[in-house]
Amino acid sequence: MSVRHFLTLLDLSTSELEQLIKRACELRKMQHAGTIYQPFVGRTLGMIFEKSSTRTRISFETGMGQFGGQAIFLSPNDTQLGRGEPVEDSARVISSMVDIIMIRTFEHEKVEKFAKYSSVPIINALTDDFHPCQLLADMQTYYEHRGSIKDKIVTWVGDGNNMCSSFMHAAHQFGFELRVAAPYGFEPDLDLMDKFSDCVSLVENVQDAAKDAHLIVTDVWASMGQENEQNTRARRFAPYQVTPAMLDKADPEVLFMHCLPAHRGEEISHDLLDDPRSVVWHEAENRLHAQKALMEFLLQDKIKI
Ligand code: CP
Ligand code: NVA
Repeated sequence: MSVRHFLTLLDLSTSELEQLIKRACELRKMQHAGTIYQPFVGRTLGMIFEKSSTRTRISFETGMGQFGGQAIFLSPNDTQLGRGEPVEDSARVISSMVDIIMIRTFEHEKVEKFAKYSSVPIINALTDDFHPCQLLADMQTYYEHRGSIKDKIVTWVGDGNNMCSSFMHAAHQFGFELRVAAPYGFEPDLDLMDKFSDCVSLVENVQDAAKDAHLIVTDVWASMGQENEQNTRARRFAPYQVTPAMLDKADPEVLFMHCLPAHRGEEISHDLLDDPRSVVWHEAENRLHAQKALMEFLLQDKIKI
């Protein structure tokens, strides 16, 4: 059987994604009940980080530990990959020793190349273009609070960045309508907008963007690697701050999500995360459960029951 990777949400079918979200909900309940479930004793997760992380590192490393396996943190400062060993050589060698690998890096093409030469599943743990693991947690969180997201309205406010692109994939896969309110020049990837024009649209007036929304999402104004654009971006994005007043214009059942880390006073107002409609802490915890479900799915042939 050929190796399955998870580089974007398009690597799984809609029914596989829906199953995975349900499994993540079960794993959350099991973890909260203190159930010991260790299908991965003797298995190893390789974790390659070329960008910083709190949630992604902790959730993957803890998840693998809870499953009875182990995780190895690999930073470019300590590996030959960081000293220029070719991606294809690193992929062949690392995958010959571990059972599954997650990678956080800059160029999406690097993850694709790694997957091409790897003999084990590769998980995209964020690239400049996509952040699919975050979307698993977000979809799980919506499901746990409100049930199916199919036919709902999701509004993305802010930068048309990697998270926004993964939301476009999610709109297609989970069947919701995505409205994007982004400043001129910071709109999402045009090819993706074109490809998913049946479920994704641009909203010109940010004040109208929240109207009728069931979920409002935003992210930082300057992503990792864009630190030197922070000041210019802060000026352009100022009208795009998400506030409780913006949520008041949405559907009465609206939820607010943010992948975190958040910058209070920038993309969100100081009081937003304390608003009862914000589910960001539940969303962050779900990184753990959703990625456990993902690893279980990708390694299903190796599971010991
Ligand atoms: N949301 C997210 O991916 O967080 P980290 O950068 O802390 O991993
Ligand atoms: N868009 C952000 C997400 C961080 C989790 C970034 O790429 O830095």
